[in-house]
Amino acid sequence: AATTTYQAENAARTQGVVESNHAGYTGTGFVNYDNVTGSSVTFTVNVGTAGSASLAFRYANGTTVSRPMTIAVDGTTVATPQFASTGVWTTWNTTTVNATLSAGSHTIKTTATTANGGPNLDSLTV
Ligand code: GCU
Ligand code: CA
Ligand code: CA
Repeated sequence: AATTTYQAENAARTQGVVESNHAGYTGTGFVNYDNVTGSSVTFTVNVGTAGSASLAFRYANGTTVSRPMTIAVDGTTVATPQFASTGVWTTWNTTTVNATLSAGSHTIKTTATTANGGPNLDSLTV
């Protein structure tokens, strides 16, 4: 199915800043979550066809410790994936979560669950 990529730097956020100081991002930058529990980025996505959707988060984590985040669709948590180390801040990997989405507009909120905050987040592809 067709996919759409939403840039994190264009999404809503709490406790985070848009930066571009680590190469390899797409678009114009990435979100650096504040290193606190509860820092978040919320995407608003539009779905053309109802069904199971793959939510692919492109991120970097230059530390050795995973940075889990809850993923909530329209306010309901659907997964709490780890965002594992990528080794350095300029290496970007993808973590994917599946969710059932109806056609139309949805919010996808990503919230850090540890005091380390989230990873650096480049984009979400749905
Ligand atoms: C470094 C890095 C940031 C990152 C931060 C972190 O400061 O430059 O891009 O967000 O570490 O540990 O979260
Ligand atoms: Ca950070
Ligand atoms: Ca980006």
